[in-house]
Amino acid sequence: MAKTMPWWTGAVVYQLIVRSYADGNGDGIGDFKGLTSRLPYLRWLGVKTLWLTPIYPSPLRDGGYDITDFTGIHPDLGDLAAFHRFLTAAHEQGMRVILDLVLNHTSDLHPWFQRARWAAKGSPEHDFYVWSDDPTRYSDAPVLFRHFESSNWEWDPVAEQYYLHRFLRHQPDLNYANPAVQESMLEVVDFWLERGVDGFRLDAVPFLFEAEGTRCEGLPETHAFLKRLRQRVESHQRDVLLLGEAIQPVQEAAPYLADDELHGAFNFVLTAHLFAAVAGGCTRQLEACLVQSEQAVSGVRWALPLRNHDELWLGDGHLIPQEVIQTIRVGLPQGQGHWLNWGINRRLAPLLNGDPRTNRLLHGLIYSLPGMPCLYYGDELGMGDWPGLRDRDPNRTPMAWTPDRNGGFSSAPDPLLVLPPITAPGYDYRVVNVEVQKQLQGSLLNWHRRMLTCRRLLPALHQGGFELLECSHPGALAYVRSTDAMTVLVAANVTGAGASFSLDLTRWQEQRTREVMWGCDFPPASPEWFVNLPPYGINWWLIGEVESEPPGPGA
Ligand code: GLC
Ligand code: CA
Repeated sequence: MAKTMPWWTGAVVYQLIVRSYADGNGDGIGDFKGLTSRLPYLRWLGVKTLWLTPIYPSPLRDGGYDITDFTGIHPDLGDLAAFHRFLTAAHEQGMRVILDLVLNHTSDLHPWFQRARWAAKGSPEHDFYVWSDDPTRYSDAPVLFRHFESSNWEWDPVAEQYYLHRFLRHQPDLNYANPAVQESMLEVVDFWLERGVDGFRLDAVPFLFEAEGTRCEGLPETHAFLKRLRQRVESHQRDVLLLGEAIQPVQEAAPYLADDELHGAFNFVLTAHLFAAVAGGCTRQLEACLVQSEQAVSGVRWALPLRNHDELWLGDGHLIPQEVIQTIRVGLPQGQGHWLNWGINRRLAPLLNGDPRTNRLLHGLIYSLPGMPCLYYGDELGMGDWPGLRDRDPNRTPMAWTPDRNGGFSSAPDPLLVLPPITAPGYDYRVVNVEVQKQLQGSLLNWHRRMLTCRRLLPALHQGGFELLECSHPGALAYVRSTDAMTVLVAANVTGAGASFSLDLTRWQEQRTREVMWGCDFPPASPEWFVNLPPYGINWWLIGEVESEPPGPGA
């Protein structure tokens, strides 16, 4: 018998920040109580996998990616009991939960680091971190957060040595060459798996090991540790998703997806090409990237984000032409620090100039391309951002639930809120919120819900093969996703003008074609099957007769 697919095959991953999602105790900070009360919304929307950004105790100098205790819950969010109640409720409602696991570093306030700096040089405690007397060691490793740091080393007056930090200076890198570090992090994995979590988003995986004369990224020792991690997870005897974050070209990210390593990895190159396609009105680079991604590993292994809690990465200057990047930046308020580290720290809607057509277009693509589409909380509403906030806070503001006080996020007086809710013109929470959009038939929210319903009913979109079709229009692309039982055709127009072209559907000659979203019949498949798409239009069609019907207008 064929092995059943693991639960994450084609899963839609909804990413949220607990402290920005829903405040259950009125202190102005989102928490597990609030999130638990919003699970019915997520179920209604149709997402079944939740990715929570770090929930652990932390001084919050890097959005919680600076951790002081890997096996605790940040007191603002609740405690382990509140987490347990949340996880149980999520499971009861048919959802899976994956946690962010930050392997590479800790906060400098972590007891391990405090112990290390006072411990004798050469002792196992000291060697939990990477120390050096010479700050030019590993000088081929680039500084990643170059808007904040100018070196990867920081002097510690207690240890009287420098310590390595690939990210911020208060985030010392753990020393994976020390077996005790490896074992400690594997125990963290055991801890959460024993508490029932369904997987991990592995933060910053390329940087675990260092070697002189290299960029210190994706070294063989790093892959070896990730394979160890995979074995450890498998010893728990259930399907646990390991989803890695490696912001790298496709051919460098693909090795993490070796059969005995991670199950999934984000395809950030594809994300960049999606934005560039819309900005430049051309699909050729996007098509090339799709082919390359599919050749590197079977496409279903890629996670496909549009936006997340970080800046939008647009490559290292060679990936996307400068004039296209400039087009993306035009329309964003200038002089507000929106270009950060390696990309733009803005939310999806402002990046798309508030145009719901491009929100639908880009999500319509990731919902139908091979892989695990990722939806960032608030993007289902076209929520805005606060460009003036520090670091990546502009796109981490509270979720907008209702037109009431604080957008229904919290009953606290607004100076106490974790971050200000959006009141920017065009994005005011009194207009852009869940309650209002639920009631408006044509809202973005209802569109997302319908697309996710359609996607659930079409297994070809979860696990089907992928094939690009020949398309003569430079601003359009077309592809099919198919299993033995069904074929779904997708065509999209990334330009601001209408697009008209024909597709060669000889293979499906005379078979019935139906638009998926509303179930309307189209002309039967033919060698010259005409497609007309409005500006930024996208459509899904079902080819042939299948057992599971598209939902139809009443769904
Ligand atoms: C990842 C996270 C980012 C964080 C960094 C350091 O890139 O996505 O938010 O700042 O790792 O932990
Ligand atoms: Ca709270």
